[in-house]
Amino acid sequence: MIKEADGKTRLCGLIGYPVGHTLSPVIHNTLAEAMGKNLVYVPFSVEKDLAAAVRGAYALNILGMNVTVPYKKDVMEALVEVDEAAVRIGAVNTLVRMEGGYKGYNTDYLGLERAMKEENIQIAGRDVVVLGAGGAANAVVYLCAKAGAKQIYILNRTVKKAQGLAEQVAAYFPECPVTAMETRDYDKLPDRAMTCIQATSIGLFPNVDAAVIEDPAFYRRIDQAVDIIYNPGETKFMRLVKEQGGRVINGLKMLLYQGVTAFELWNDVSVDADTCYKVQKLLEQELQK
Ligand code: ATR
Repeated sequence: MIKEADGKTRLCGLIGYPVGHTLSPVIHNTLAEAMGKNLVYVPFSVEKDLAAAVRGAYALNILGMNVTVPYKKDVMEALVEVDEAAVRIGAVNTLVRMEGGYKGYNTDYLGLERAMKEENIQIAGRDVVVLGAGGAANAVVYLCAKAGAKQIYILNRTVKKAQGLAEQVAAYFPECPVTAMETRDYDKLPDRAMTCIQATSIGLFPNVDAAVIEDPAFYRRIDQAVDIIYNPGETKFMRLVKEQGGRVINGLKMLLYQGVTAFELWNDVSVDADTCYKVQKLLEQELQK
């Protein structure tokens, strides 16, 4: 964080409710200091009247905002422009100041893309299983289709939600086959090597002894995987992947890079790998507290 605010200090922040547990101030205040930006990032607890909060942010000359639960969808109505990927995902998590208001982006999917590239977890040309069909899964499935998955399987407890998501993606990426299935039908998946992205909330702290699918037979086909959960650092899903010989990462780098990408959009900079690594280490320390 910058040591002292002065007349030129810019403000960025997070709109959500609740916001008390966010790690975003760690990300952005560390980046501001490392990149020599006179900028402070603070959480804003917005209980109601989202549109007024966005208007107020603009009037106060706030440079950029992140948006979290429960406003990632509703915030779109308060923006002057929304990036095409964010429209297709149906969620905005980053607001970038422009003439007359803010433009909305989705850096969650961009963060996941960066994390997977860095860890060499492949989507292009592969069969990909996405577990979950909620808000987070929307960004995951969009990325899989955009990045050229050979075939996407969306598995969800509520199959209707998986079907809705599959139809949404098929409309934008007609060349990418998407199949919706009920999670318990996992044994009907073809028996070949697959990439899997865990996008349900199962396994999240404090329910650390749960995984969306417990059967080791499912994990035999998973050779590369991501759990978008980062707390705990190793979920039961991750252990199950490893036990069958697969390579798996948690969601910490997705969190890191959604933040880095937002910071880059706000400040028109490119954050170097050493700085990213420094922020990652700080996030790990925070999570151990
Ligand atoms: P998020 O924004 O984190 O994605 P969400 O939109 O509420 O949160 O989605 C949560 C996901 O976890 C959904 O896919 C949900 O399945 P349903 O659509 O069937 O509700 C899944 N999920 C949460 N708790 C679950 C449970 N106990 N068993 C199976 N799936 C669960």
